[in-house]
Amino acid sequence: MKDQLKILTCGSVDDGKSTLIGHLLYDSKLLYVDQEKTLELDSKIQNNNELDYSLLLDGLDEEREQGITIDVSYRYFNTNKRNFIVLDTPGHEEYTKNMAVGASQADLAILLVDVSKGLLPQTKRHINICSMMGIKDYVVVINKMDLINYNKNKFNDIKKQIKEFFGNFLYSSLKIIPISATKGDNIMHLSKNMTWYKEQPLMPYLETIKITKNEAHNKKFIFPVQRVSRPNQFFRGFQGNVSSGKIKIGDSVFCLPSREEAKVQELYKLDKKVDSISIGQPSTITLDREIDVSRGCVLTNDTNICVTNNINATLLWTDIEEVKINQAYYLVVGTKNTLCYIKKINYKIDINDNSKSDKFNNVYRNDIINCDIEVLEKISVTQFEYNKELGSLILINRLTNSTSCCGIIKRINKSESLFYQSTTITPGDRQKLLYQKPITIWFTGLSCSGKSTIANELDRILNINGYHTMLLDGDNIRFGLNKDLSFSEDDRIENIRRIAEVSKLMNDAGLICITSFISPLEINRSMAKQIIGDNFVLVYINTPIEECIKRDKKGLYKRAYNGEISNFTGVNSPFEIPENPNIILDNKNYIECAEKIYNYILERIEICK
Ligand code: ADX
Repeated sequence: MKDQLKILTCGSVDDGKSTLIGHLLYDSKLLYVDQEKTLELDSKIQNNNELDYSLLLDGLDEEREQGITIDVSYRYFNTNKRNFIVLDTPGHEEYTKNMAVGASQADLAILLVDVSKGLLPQTKRHINICSMMGIKDYVVVINKMDLINYNKNKFNDIKKQIKEFFGNFLYSSLKIIPISATKGDNIMHLSKNMTWYKEQPLMPYLETIKITKNEAHNKKFIFPVQRVSRPNQFFRGFQGNVSSGKIKIGDSVFCLPSREEAKVQELYKLDKKVDSISIGQPSTITLDREIDVSRGCVLTNDTNICVTNNINATLLWTDIEEVKINQAYYLVVGTKNTLCYIKKINYKIDINDNSKSDKFNNVYRNDIINCDIEVLEKISVTQFEYNKELGSLILINRLTNSTSCCGIIKRINKSESLFYQSTTITPGDRQKLLYQKPITIWFTGLSCSGKSTIANELDRILNINGYHTMLLDGDNIRFGLNKDLSFSEDDRIENIRRIAEVSKLMNDAGLICITSFISPLEINRSMAKQIIGDNFVLVYINTPIEECIKRDKKGLYKRAYNGEISNFTGVNSPFEIPENPNIILDNKNYIECAEKIYNYILERIEICK
């Protein structure tokens, strides 16, 4: 069987990338007949009969003009010797992050250099990014040789510069080829215009180069869980893509971060039952016992994966906004989505010589930095070299939702020496004894909106109906567990994180948990949901602020308006209206409100007889 080579193409604007790719497709005769005819006709109109191969790739330009987000485009072609996939990304500076995504998937990078312009900063940056994303094999094509009359000396000058620059990086192979993408020199065949170049032309080189793929050393099973499938109360399957290794029915796995163990009971590829699954396959797994697994967990037998909340990472900053230290970003690593803070920038990498400097003022778009990141929850990670999926990350700006950076994990600051202790009695056993299914009913709303009153009434109704509950209330908890916290945004995040963890413990103990905290920001509620998981029910008490002020017996709003209380929600600190609450209530009649919630949750807390 022919092997497959994934090629990333990188170039700055106008250095002929589209023309080169078009040429490779045209010469490998991979064009449809109508595409070929259109190309010939279009070229005749524009270019005095000379074929303009770049027209074949104009799709990307059109997308750009229309303002559509451009990812990586994939182009497939084959020759007798190999199958090729070209991963193409636009050359503009603002698309550097797409290039990084492409680089994480590619085996080899082709870098285009316009002979008349030499080695541009953008190309240097591309080389840095390719190296950071683990590419070890490079081809640099020096394009537009026809425009300098195929001058050998000019080529040799640039070749020397490039070799020197690559001296900064670790690589396995580097080939430098003089070409003309428009004329076809040294692409399929050696050019008659450059008889001084006697090495392989581009295509034969790509067909024969041996690639250093370094995934082979890791054969252990790694399965980041994307989704928990529960079509009915009897089936609980974990869905995702096998990131490495293989597994068969009866094998033992453990779930990270908890380290609870179980045996594989059933395996599915799509809806077909199978005996084993392996790398690259989208699958569903069921286990022989109920353990705590949710989206973002990893099912594995690999003891090298670390559970931590402290990582060191190298980041390619892609946000127009500068890096903000100690501010919360969303973190995505594997299938896990959580919150993190950049605690410290250790150094910035100078793209001109790959040197590291800790003396810099700010970090801007396209800068490469190394930093320490603290994560709010425990995450399961590896170094990038060990597993690309658990070793790479992106950070998302919470306010603008744009991708702030992509990066790779360099070091893992291991979380103390903690190991999860499996318990004989599971949460499932505790539920059976209490004869109920635990959930957390999470109230959100302004101060004096009626949260506590309704929560209290709901607690009472559940109690008289024989359910075991626990009520956690904002003011009360701030007298004890959270007495060290203020009302700053950061402390509120910590307040809610602790409450969410406590609620989860209550649920693990089998109790129905009711919480009444303002939880003013979307970030507070989404974090609580992430921690608590499927058991989370969000109730929004939508009482207008004027009404809250009227009910405020403690006079807090008045004092806040007088400037005596800072960060008071609704007055001098924001309340973000929840996007997707399970229930919205207006609190006209607190008993009716509590009954509505009771009726809504009844199905979820009852154990079927
Ligand atoms: S949260 O924002 O972190 O969720 P929480 O629910 O714990 O707040 O506490 C809110 C209660 O603390 C209010 O009902 C009010 O009695 C009191 N409080 C004191 N200062 C503030 C403040 N600056 N903002 C909001 N509530 C405050």
